[in-house]
Amino acid sequence: MCGIVGYLGPRAAQALLLEGLKRLEYRGYDSAGIATIQSDGLQVVRSAGRISVLEERLHEQGDLTGHLGIAHTRWATHGSPTETNAHPHTDAAGKLAVVHNGIIENYAVLKKYLAEKGVTCVTETDTEVLAKLIGQLYATGKFDLEAAVQAALREVTGAYAIAVVCADEPDTLIVARKGSPMIIGLGESSFIAASDASAIIAHTSQVITLDDYQVARLTLTDHGPEVRTTTIDNVPVTREVEDLEINLEQIELDGYPHYMLKEIMEQPHSLTNALRGRIDRREGRVVLGGISGYARELVRARRFIYTGQGTAWHACLLGEYLLEDLAKLPAETEYASEFRYRNPIIEDGTVLVAVSQSGETADTLAALREAKDRGALTLGVVNAVGSTIPRETDTGVYLHVGPEIGVASTKAFLGQVTVLTLLALFVGRRKYLSADTISQYLEELEKMPELITQVLKQSDYIRDEVAKVIDRENWLFLGRGYNYPVALEGALKLKEISYIHAEGMPAAEMKHGPIALIDQGMPVVFVVPSGSQYEKAISNVEEVRARGGRIIAVADEDDTNIERYADTVFRIPAVAEPLQPLLSVVPLQLLAYHAAVLRGHDVDKPRNLAKSVTVE
Ligand code: M6R
Repeated sequence: MCGIVGYLGPRAAQALLLEGLKRLEYRGYDSAGIATIQSDGLQVVRSAGRISVLEERLHEQGDLTGHLGIAHTRWATHGSPTETNAHPHTDAAGKLAVVHNGIIENYAVLKKYLAEKGVTCVTETDTEVLAKLIGQLYATGKFDLEAAVQAALREVTGAYAIAVVCADEPDTLIVARKGSPMIIGLGESSFIAASDASAIIAHTSQVITLDDYQVARLTLTDHGPEVRTTTIDNVPVTREVEDLEINLEQIELDGYPHYMLKEIMEQPHSLTNALRGRIDRREGRVVLGGISGYARELVRARRFIYTGQGTAWHACLLGEYLLEDLAKLPAETEYASEFRYRNPIIEDGTVLVAVSQSGETADTLAALREAKDRGALTLGVVNAVGSTIPRETDTGVYLHVGPEIGVASTKAFLGQVTVLTLLALFVGRRKYLSADTISQYLEELEKMPELITQVLKQSDYIRDEVAKVIDRENWLFLGRGYNYPVALEGALKLKEISYIHAEGMPAAEMKHGPIALIDQGMPVVFVVPSGSQYEKAISNVEEVRARGGRIIAVADEDDTNIERYADTVFRIPAVAEPLQPLLSVVPLQLLAYHAAVLRGHDVDKPRNLAKSVTVE
């Protein structure tokens, strides 16, 4: 939820660190800070607010010139987003500085221990406790920086990715991880370490990733850069150098005003990538290399549990509907945060599908571990290659939609639904679906990028229609069957970036209470493409209309009937019901985007949010 960058090399660190922070800003943006080792010791500059505030402060007070430095952009967990609570945090001697992502769960115990040793903490953060502990161990003279970090981490429970520098060791950068990502970029004569590849890719694609409980000591020696990786118990470990799978263009705005719009607009391309090599229409087969070795277990499974949070949870719900419909297997969807603490019953033949864009969501990861401990076969549906969830699941399928930077998830949702559709077809083919039926679905899936392109052409129209109701503070999103999860997603998109109160629910549920909310002109979005529940959905539309609600419908392009009821219609091409969500969600993404822009909000960095939620 926060971002870390560290640099050691021949250049002044500040510019690289600030550039890295800007690339990570989507991960957390309530305060920021930087520490470099100057010729006269450690210098730390911090500020509340965005990176731009920190940058101004640095320029005002004189840029830092040190060649070794660490920096952080924060999403507050312990303590409000003030300058004092911003990272880096320092030890009592003011010699060493630490930046940290994650949560030190036993920080209160450690704080008490430090107080007994006469070391006082001045901030409300858990990270300061870690900095003070490393410093206290270092000050005993028994440890060098690396050993002090290892020793401190042995005392810590919780999650961390950290970077540490010390004025006494101006050629050493220490990084470590447990439960929060840390990647080390290897330059020819430099290191750039970060919690996210997007801060590294402009400099190198050669990286080492750390596993849990591992520490790396990065040093510049006369022979060049040297990496030593150990466990926190100082046992040496070998880490392979890997190639980063993203490129710079994927994380640039490319002329768009916001990442969210770019990511909505590139969905035809994302979908093409998500489908590439996975469709064999001639044979009526879905090819999912990653899980083919588990086909037998999947087909014989007695129950699938889909789990995730937020948008990923909405994709899970669609996964459940798809599997029941296409593979006739019992399935359920669980919030990962509830599942993990519920003492869940996992019988033989249970498959847990963990869905996540980032692959790092703390609750989803914990649910996965819980299910695995209880004997479930675990399958990850994840976008971020090499992230923690795919490393811990038995098998899985990547989305391949490219990095998603906008905090509001759009193309990842589309990728998740695509992969869950393929999964249902993969299992269904081995159970009840004929090759012909599969081929028909696959044919439509192959056309999907083109169909999405058609839907995207309505962007300006959608903006103009949203403008008519932009002053309304309460919205409803309703759908039936496959379109109910889409309604939920539409409501989440609108509330998270425009701060308009929106609720999504099954259309029929409205009558059981929420109908009381409807007053003259209240926008009610109905997702009503043609299909088995169309007539029933139209009855619900009439109920809303009779009470003065303003109907915004998402309907098939040839549905003229809807014009009798709706004030506004966003059109989608007609496709088979299980595939409708891939199209019907697109106008809702655009609706939310335009609403947020019309209201003047920072679309890519909505208040109080961060891109990935790595704390409970
Ligand atoms: O990285 P994940 O897919 O696991 O993230 C799950 C949710 O935090 C995420 O989808 C969140 O709801 C988005 N902000 C929605 O746009």
